[in-house]
Amino acid sequence: MKVNQLFDGVYEIWTREFGAQLATRNLVPGVSAYGERLIQKASSEFRLWDPYRSKLAAAIKKGLREMPIKGGKKVLYLGAAAGTTVSHVSDIVGNSGVVYAVEFSSRSIRELLVACKGRNNVVPILSDARNPEGYRSTVGAVDVIYADVAQPDQAKIVVDNFRTYCSRDASAMLVVKSRSVDVSESPSKVFAGQRAILERDGFRVVEEIELSPYERDHELIVGSGS
Ligand SMILES: C[S@@+](CC[C@H](N)C(=O)[O-])C[C@H]1O[C@@H](n2cnc3c(N)ncnc32)[C@H](O)[C@@H]1O
Repeated sequence: MKVNQLFDGVYEIWTREFGAQLATRNLVPGVSAYGERLIQKASSEFRLWDPYRSKLAAAIKKGLREMPIKGGKKVLYLGAAAGTTVSHVSDIVGNSGVVYAVEFSSRSIRELLVACKGRNNVVPILSDARNPEGYRSTVGAVDVIYADVAQPDQAKIVVDNFRTYCSRDASAMLVVKSRSVDVSESPSKVFAGQRAILERDGFRVVEEIELSPYERDHELIVGSGS
């Protein structure tokens, strides 16, 4: 088995059984968060990371150049759902980092609690990301906002959270689901509109990655506040 590091905490591993696969190093050895495969290599255990189940993994597979999520970073994750991608972000930031996982569906957050059991760096927050003040008592300053809320006002949600929790040198990663914004508009026009909202607020867009074939009509916008 060969292991190639793509970013801090993100690997591509080759096994005879599965070929080349994306993976993160398991922070909770022996535990599979949502049914993903665990692969042992020397003293490490890796969790396979499926780009068809995680848009962050899809963006990496599509050639993401800059990865602001690294070891020790504080990440505000908006739209945590059942914790699939959150669990990999937790692996990447490690025990010196933290993932504030905001989700407004109580059913999803119950599933997240199961998926992220034993992950002491994940702080689940049952709250509406449209009201960043609602979790002020739990969340301090963060280095990265990752948003995957699939809402028509997704870019504004990022801008409002960034103003509340970030200094200008922080980064934002916004997953845009075109159909959540406007089903009748072409995805490329929707992506441009969401990008314009970020730029109007002073974001410098660093990268835009369209996520097909892993996700249809989605893109990831990576921006920096400075
Ligand atoms: C596409 S799913 C996220 C998938 C997840 N990021 C992953 O990769 O595992 C979108 C999630 O955002 C949540 N959501 C939508 N609007 C929200 C809001 N205003 N505040 C908090 N969560 C929200 C939904 O309940 C849903 O679970």
